[in-house]
Amino acid sequence: MAETIPRLRSSDPVSDIVAALEESGVVRVDEMLDAEVLARFNAEINPHLEAVDPGRRLMNPVIQGFFGDATRHITGVAAKSRTFVDHVLCHSVLLAVCDTILLPSCARYQLNIAHVLDRGPGALQQLLHRDELVWVHLFQQGWQSAPRPEVQVASILALEDFDAENGATRVIPGSHRWPRERQPQLAELVTAEMPAGSAVLYLGSTIHGGGPNTTTNRRRRGMHQSYTLGWLRTEENHYLTTPVELARSLPREALDLLGYSAHDALMSGGGYLGAVDTADPLDLIEQGRL
Ligand SMILES: [Fe+2]
Repeated sequence: MAETIPRLRSSDPVSDIVAALEESGVVRVDEMLDAEVLARFNAEINPHLEAVDPGRRLMNPVIQGFFGDATRHITGVAAKSRTFVDHVLCHSVLLAVCDTILLPSCARYQLNIAHVLDRGPGALQQLLHRDELVWVHLFQQGWQSAPRPEVQVASILALEDFDAENGATRVIPGSHRWPRERQPQLAELVTAEMPAGSAVLYLGSTIHGGGPNTTTNRRRRGMHQSYTLGWLRTEENHYLTTPVELARSLPREALDLLGYSAHDALMSGGGYLGAVDTADPLDLIEQGRL
């Protein structure tokens, strides 16, 4: 018998959202974006999705297979949509959850990756996986013993309604506490059906994957984004996707999340990472020196 995904609203206490996320490894949060913001965000990314070459080849066959040929995919979203920057990247609920789960393990957390996945008819069940294994070396060094700090908080934001037919994300509640060797069974998957504007938040250790799109004429547009510790290498290179010429026009909070600020762990006995000219790049931008 599959477990269920706990369900809360963005207006609920963040402590309740965090408690559900830590207990189940996944939580659905409704009303993350209101209708006006959602419509604006979709309008801003529409031209970018329409410009995606359906025959585009990604970096290697593994990555190509992971996303699948039926998926339109856009990255570097902070440079393409100001609505994303203001209302998604800096969403107060996401950041409050990260404050609780990630901040104990770093001086600041950062965006790991943010991309739109528009999965069309014929998209297959994605390989089930744990997002945190992009840093596989970390877990070969003894970090796999549970309980242990989480290194990633992820979310899938529905930019249109998600249902079982159009490929809603599938997730296994409780899998964040499984021993590494336990293999997932299809019967354990729970489909994260939700209306546009809702999101599922999950931990980097939770097993999940995009569901198959079995429709003939409906796409499933979702925003996947995740945050990680400020001292880990990110999947997306934000310095190049959001170059400094654009960064100068963005708010400090967004630049901090995009990795422009230094990771200062000196007071914790650690080091100072990401400096430019022995200074915090964010300060240099604000002073007009960068
Ligand atoms: Fe994933």
